[in-house]
Amino acid sequence: MFEEANNIQKIVPLYQGRNIPKVDVIPSLSRIKNLMVKTCRYFFAGPGIDNTAPFRGFLLYGPPGTGKTELSKQVVRELDETLGNFANVYLLFIDGSVIATPKWGEAEQRLRAIFSYAEYLEKKKGITHPKVILLFDDIESLMLGRSAELAKEWHYSINSVFFHGVDNINPTKTLVLATTNKEELVDDAIRDRLYPIKVTPPSIDGLMNIANEILEITGVLNPKKEEVLKSIENKLIEMENPSIRDVKHLTIIKCIEDGVWWR
Ligand SMILES: Nc1ncnc2c1ncn2[C@@H]1O[C@H](COP(=O)(O)OP(=O)(O)O)[C@@H](O)[C@H]1O
Ligand SMILES: [Mg+2]
Repeated sequence: MFEEANNIQKIVPLYQGRNIPKVDVIPSLSRIKNLMVKTCRYFFAGPGIDNTAPFRGFLLYGPPGTGKTELSKQVVRELDETLGNFANVYLLFIDGSVIATPKWGEAEQRLRAIFSYAEYLEKKKGITHPKVILLFDDIESLMLGRSAELAKEWHYSINSVFFHGVDNINPTKTLVLATTNKEELVDDAIRDRLYPIKVTPPSIDGLMNIANEILEITGVLNPKKEEVLKSIENKLIEMENPSIRDVKHLTIIKCIEDGVWWR
């Protein structure tokens, strides 16, 4: 089993939570972040959790660019930080590029190896209480990328490996987070195992906080700062469901255009 884990180590990035760079989560997402951190802490350190736990983590769903991936990483960062000396929390980041392989059957093998890897980390000697968060980013992409006639069979076989893996994790040591922009492609059985949370596009105020932060970090001063912010706000208002990514792009381009950063 651990031989499999050894091979998968080379392709799945592993991070310790406290080494993930800190990002201030926007206010509308901080409530979700706190709920996730507290729940994971309870599973990892609280009483009364065993293999009968009704769910094994969270599924974040919502439009692209709303901060789902970043939020998941921040949950691991905060978990590791707040559990302090009690435990060490690691993130295994799994996206389509890890799982999708051109060879039939190999994707299932890799997915199985990821669960073995988590188990290997849980038992690793010399680390105080290792805990693992498996982040399946854009989880629907694990199920795509095959030709249409194979898709159904492929779905079935990759899903069954996933369900088996999730059902067999020890939720006091390993939990699963998943994100998706394509909720309709996510199997109902995933929702049974992961608590679903909807991530809605941030408010204009939330987005303006991010623009403001970028300008502050880069030292843009008033009155220029106010002028740039007003222009960004006007553009955001015209957009349909602007995302965090949109506000970052707009802020950078506006500053370059106006010669705030480079002339
Ligand atoms: N709270 C935040 N503050 C600043 N930037 C953020 C924040 N949350 C996310 N981002 C950035 O916004 C972009 C989109 O976030 P991401 O988590 O990838 O969204 P999603 O996974 O929902 O598509 C990324 O560049 C990310 O680093
Ligand atoms: Mg994402």
